[in-house]
Amino acid sequence: MHKYDKDRALVDRQILTDRQGEVMDRPGRVGDKSFYIESYGCQMNFADSEIVASILADIGYSATASMDSADLILINTCSIREKAEDTVRKRLRIFDKAKRRRPGTLVGVLGCMAERLKKKFLEEERLVDMVVGPDAYRDLPALLASAEEGQKGINVLLSREETYADVAPVRLNSNGVSAFISIMRGCDNMCSFCVVPFTRGRERSRDPYSVIAEASQLYEQGYKEVTLLGQNVDSYQWSHEESGESVNFARLLGLVADIGPDLRVRFSTSHPKDITDEVLHTIAAYRNICDYIHLPVQSGSSRILSRMNRTYDREWYMERVESIYRIIPDCAISSDIITGFCGETEEEHRETLSMVEWAGYTMSYMFYYSERPGTLAARKYEDDVDLATKKRRLAEVIDLQRTVSHQHNLRDVGKTMEILLEGRSKKSDRHWKGRNSQNKIVIMPMMDGYAIGDYVDVKISDTTSATLLGDIIQKSQYSS
Ligand code: SAH
Ligand code: SF4
Ligand code: F3S
Repeated sequence: MHKYDKDRALVDRQILTDRQGEVMDRPGRVGDKSFYIESYGCQMNFADSEIVASILADIGYSATASMDSADLILINTCSIREKAEDTVRKRLRIFDKAKRRRPGTLVGVLGCMAERLKKKFLEEERLVDMVVGPDAYRDLPALLASAEEGQKGINVLLSREETYADVAPVRLNSNGVSAFISIMRGCDNMCSFCVVPFTRGRERSRDPYSVIAEASQLYEQGYKEVTLLGQNVDSYQWSHEESGESVNFARLLGLVADIGPDLRVRFSTSHPKDITDEVLHTIAAYRNICDYIHLPVQSGSSRILSRMNRTYDREWYMERVESIYRIIPDCAISSDIITGFCGETEEEHRETLSMVEWAGYTMSYMFYYSERPGTLAARKYEDDVDLATKKRRLAEVIDLQRTVSHQHNLRDVGKTMEILLEGRSKKSDRHWKGRNSQNKIVIMPMMDGYAIGDYVDVKISDTTSATLLGDIIQKSQYSS
């Protein structure tokens, strides 16, 4: 029932933050060699590490959590802010020591920083044996072979077609409940502050058959949640070469949601200029498409948005938020915010603060502006807001967001909601953590008769600004 092949017409079937460096591991060895991988940056980078693990598994490499015993040390890098790149360089110093302890260990730099710095990396960082850009992972076996011969390897070619559609990701650090599925790569927007179009290349959508097949397979393996990933999921667009049949994001969402009523579907990231009512109506129509949209505003000021080249203004953004709340009344909205962008005045900063309050974000990823070399903003505008002001404005946004999140959470106290149990609480081994449809983290005491992966009805008794607390009442309708 969940098998797809390319010849079958889709119409027949009733049937897509910054994380800190994480060591990604999967127990069990598939070959006689091992690799250690640390991933930085966005979820797409984490998903890419799973593609890399798959490509390496084919040549006998398995993942290990031990840097010291690895034959190959990889770091999947992020260039989004200067700090992200500084972290990578610090990690390379640590790898240097590991390499000295165990001569012959190879070190490879993957991802966005590899793409941005290219050959410079090999010149600057002598311990690095391989530099591999995000579209060149299929070349890893060849690059590894030459690195083993003492030949440093580099492939940073960007592609217009590569989606790794046929590469079955090897899930790393999986809880067996939620998984990420990349539905597109690259970005065609040119936000003036952003390095992604330079590090990830042109936007391309993955064929829907392979997306649905991957999601179906995860469902059959017992996964309960998939998150469809892209820098701008709303511009997902795929057309069948022969039939001309086309699939947009709304349709893809529906197709994935049809896989099973107990498969939660999430997606990230939506772009305010592209999110359509059709997508909103699709979310409203499916119980299992989560009532949660990450809709980064970046700034609340139309003048700054124009400088940022976001191609929408404050009014447009507000209209989109109103439509979300109208079509999906219980929808939670979160955001990304940059403080102290070139030329931002105090008044414009206050417009960002008022937006946080007005939109009622359940949470936001908040940053101060970090100029990136080669971007439009770096060429066109002066980075003229001093660091102390950037940081002060950031602290103000963070404070306000904390209050707004808390207020939002207070409205949940007393309610009973469906939670997907995802794992143990980090702070207590007698508590579980899960999330509700709105993507809020809920902590509750463990109870006999329930297990990770169950859907449970939880009565919310208390809250902090970030986390809801409650107690399990019963298994919910969709629990297996
Ligand atoms: N495609 C997503 C964003 C991906 S990058 C979108 O368009 O919303 C994640 C976030 O990092 C951005 O939303 C932005 O808030 C932040 N960011 C990107 N470049 C930055 C820079 N130069 N300085 C500070 N923050 C930045
Ligand atoms: Fe960067 Fe803008 Fe593309 Fe997001 S949409 S990845 S911020 S260029
Ligand atoms: Fe960073 Fe590249 Fe993602 S720059 S945010 S890892 S696309």
